[in-house]
Amino acid sequence: MKVVNVTKTYLPDIKKYIQYVERIYETGWVTNAGACVQELTKRLEQYLGVKNLVLVSNATLGLQLAYKALELSGEVITTPFSFVATTSSLVWEKLTPRFVDIDPTSFCINPALIESAITPKTSAILPVHVYGNVCEVEKIEAIAKKHKLKVVYDAAHAFGVNYKGASVLNHGDISILSFHATKLFHTVEGGALIIKDDAVYEKVKRLMNFGLNGPVEIVSEGINTKMSEFHAAMGLCVLDDMAEILQKRQEVDRYYREHLPDQLHLLEVNPSATPNYAYFPVVFDSESQLLKVEAVLKANNIVPRRYFYPSLNTVPYVEYQPMPVSEDIAARVLCLPMYAGLEAASFEKIVDMIGQVINT
Ligand SMILES: Cc1ncc(COP(=O)(O)O)c(C=O)c1O
Repeated sequence: MKVVNVTKTYLPDIKKYIQYVERIYETGWVTNAGACVQELTKRLEQYLGVKNLVLVSNATLGLQLAYKALELSGEVITTPFSFVATTSSLVWEKLTPRFVDIDPTSFCINPALIESAITPKTSAILPVHVYGNVCEVEKIEAIAKKHKLKVVYDAAHAFGVNYKGASVLNHGDISILSFHATKLFHTVEGGALIIKDDAVYEKVKRLMNFGLNGPVEIVSEGINTKMSEFHAAMGLCVLDDMAEILQKRQEVDRYYREHLPDQLHLLEVNPSATPNYAYFPVVFDSESQLLKVEAVLKANNIVPRRYFYPSLNTVPYVEYQPMPVSEDIAARVLCLPMYAGLEAASFEKIVDMIGQVINT
């Protein structure tokens, strides 16, 4: 029997992808800022309404590259409600995550709690536009300015999100997108940095290419986070189909919102932002209710995911700091299947089954 997972990678027309592959074969240029990477960079800058976009091999390395480029040190204020890469990338770079609890409505970092977490060691704030829902960017940036802190947005979920009429990715010193295969827009593996300052942009391009400036000059230490031509070609094909992908996701979102039982708590999208339908999180009354629903769905070959669980302040390699809101939401939230091509029969069945479990 067919399994319906929480997401399904969007695969574009294979003939179109093969045409790009044939061109890559003709030139023999497979990586190192080739034609596909250059074209995808330009087209994404245009599509998203941003400048200084740099493609990378994944968002996790993109985050680490951002911390290096901005020379972060000591402590970084961040949210406990995210995918583990937000926290682990800090720890990997020997930075200490200093958690600040989330707002119970937006699930994003609560700006009212940030200032009390600032210490003389704090160098930056790392909020997440979780599920593509926009953080309170003005408040966050006012605090950062007052305390001379950098702001790095983990915007892994925020592809194509506009806030007050412009891309949300223009906020912060650097915003990082993920183009992993599970994402709304993808390059199989990949990501991008959007960088405010031109000098930092030049520095990022050097750091991601071994610290080289041209073929013979080594300016600094560096790393390799380049995107290959084959990955960029996939991005070029997927980008052509974005309007259709978004429309199909919107239909699923609308059905869930209109038909799921009223007692479930759904994410309230920031009213000044455009939704991108990246995820469909549902918060149950209790963890036991969530577990019951999950078990029934799985017994019917439907596999939702506990995004984001556990709350990251509880992972074994950080010092535990209680985060009551995040821990509570993480225990009760389940992401329902959401992707372009999810069949009506599947999402109707999901809604029916959830209704049955909740009402018994
Ligand atoms: C919030 C968040 N940050 C970072 C990442 C890491 O992205 P990548 O898989 O491209 O390294 C993810 C991946 O799902 C994510 O959800």
